[in-house]
Amino acid sequence: MSERIVVKTKHGELTIDQLAEVQPGMSRIMEENARRWWYMYYAAQGGNWALAGYQYRQILGLFSTAKTLRPKYAQDLTTFELEYMKPIFEAINEKNWEKFEKAYHNGIEGSDLYHNKWGHPEIRFVLPSEPPKHLHLGPPEKLVRRKNT
Ligand code: HEM
Repeated sequence: MSERIVVKTKHGELTIDQLAEVQPGMSRIMEENARRWWYMYYAAQGGNWALAGYQYRQILGLFSTAKTLRPKYAQDLTTFELEYMKPIFEAINEKNWEKFEKAYHNGIEGSDLYHNKWGHPEIRFVLPSEPPKHLHLGPPEKLVRRKNT
């Protein structure tokens, strides 16, 4: 039954099984997660708290996708949210840089614990030393656009 063709694309027909197979796995989800952690840090540091909040929500969205696609990680992701993400959320809401920085680095230490737990002591997220160049990181209302920027 699951082999039934469910979608006709301009390139051909796809079954439910084929659609399921091409969903992102943990590796792809984590790559984006790491990028969002990078952006979130520099947005908060620059004072673009709305952007930090946006990145935060994207991280939670990725966790939610991971829980659906890789249910064996669901419990740990929920625990991580409560223990490590919640303080970050509070710091962003309060626009409190000191609190944010502490909670952020705590979260990275937390990720080491979970990578260890799942057999990946080699995976160590390191905050890039450079801020992303394609996003305005200061308060949005302070952005003055010059021509062609
Ligand atoms: C601060 C939060 C976290 C960050 C920044 C982070 C970052 C990363 C990065 C960069 C990778 C390597 C991705 C790649 O290039 O293939 C990875 C892999 C992985 N992470 Fe995380 N991670 C975080 C939290 C967690 C948590 C809470 C779990 C618990 C379930 C977890 C489980 C995994 C697993 C299982 C892999 C290996 C994926 C695979 O290749 O199958 N991570 N993570």
